[in-house]
Amino acid sequence: MADFSEFASDIKLINDFLKNEAFECCESSVVLDAMNYSLKNGGKRIRPLLTLYFSELSGGDYKSAIKLGCALEMIHTYSLIHDDLPCMDNDDTRRGKPSCHIAYGEANALLAGDALLTEAFYLATQSGIPAENVSLAVKCLSEFAGVRGMVMGQVLDLQFENTEPTLSDIKKMYSLKTCALLKCACVLGYLTGKKVEKKEMDIICEYAENLGLAFQITDDILDIVSDSQTLGKPVGSDEKNNKPTFVKLYGLEKSKALVNELTNNAISILGSYNNSEKLIKLTLALASREF
Ligand code: IPE
Ligand code: IPE
Ligand code: MG
Ligand code: MG
Ligand code: MG
Repeated sequence: MADFSEFASDIKLINDFLKNEAFECCESSVVLDAMNYSLKNGGKRIRPLLTLYFSELSGGDYKSAIKLGCALEMIHTYSLIHDDLPCMDNDDTRRGKPSCHIAYGEANALLAGDALLTEAFYLATQSGIPAENVSLAVKCLSEFAGVRGMVMGQVLDLQFENTEPTLSDIKKMYSLKTCALLKCACVLGYLTGKKVEKKEMDIICEYAENLGLAFQITDDILDIVSDSQTLGKPVGSDEKNNKPTFVKLYGLEKSKALVNELTNNAISILGSYNNSEKLIKLTLALASREF
């Protein structure tokens, strides 16, 4: 079973930043309430953790890493709010509570997502990294989150409902909807300390591709074998929406074996870095996670 307790102090740094410093000077409103509701209560904070640990790897400033990681967490949270809407997966619970649209209505959920996405770019400009790296960070957020990344993955995810795509189609969908934001997390962290040359970019993305495929296949496994209390979101969502998944194609046992294989690939890629112990532990913990 995964033990996340050793990441607790880092998760606290992330949660404290979100609690105390996110949305500073924003006027109170129903949409701000909806943003806070979805962002500040729960979530494993995997993406900001990756940003923090890749920053450690490159000798970056941890405060900048926290800000960039939290900017990405805002984008991730927006993706979850929209993913739960009736026009997408139509799921009523998230992070152990009623989904944003159940608590605040569809229009406010839509706008809370829009505002989280926009606020992420504001925060990225406040991260304190050198100006030339701010433009890289903004480029990275746009590329991995937008139509070249997560959004396109969600488009494919919806298009593939009720169809039987090939394995390579499913892999492409996972790569875009899930791996892309994980790649973004790692690259953002690395650039707080060092320039991300092409060679570095390829290695980091290869790591996050393997991690992300394992992460999404685990999400699909948990959707079948877990319970809504443990996950904090409904189970059986993929079946309900007739989503094609690796698990549907391969079955549970083969999918679990694949998660282990991808995790081992990811860990061996980390071998090219010193100081990667925490990342290795996190990568392993994610493979045996139960929520
Ligand atoms: C859920 O992501 C969406 C997927 C990409 C599978 P997480 O499992 O990281 O969700 P939170 O942030 O912990 O709620
Ligand atoms: C969502 O995949 C990936 C996103 C980009 C939000 P899922 O639809 O399987 O995520 P969950 O299971 O609702 O968290
Ligand atoms: Mg979905
Ligand atoms: Mg969903
Ligand atoms: Mg899922």
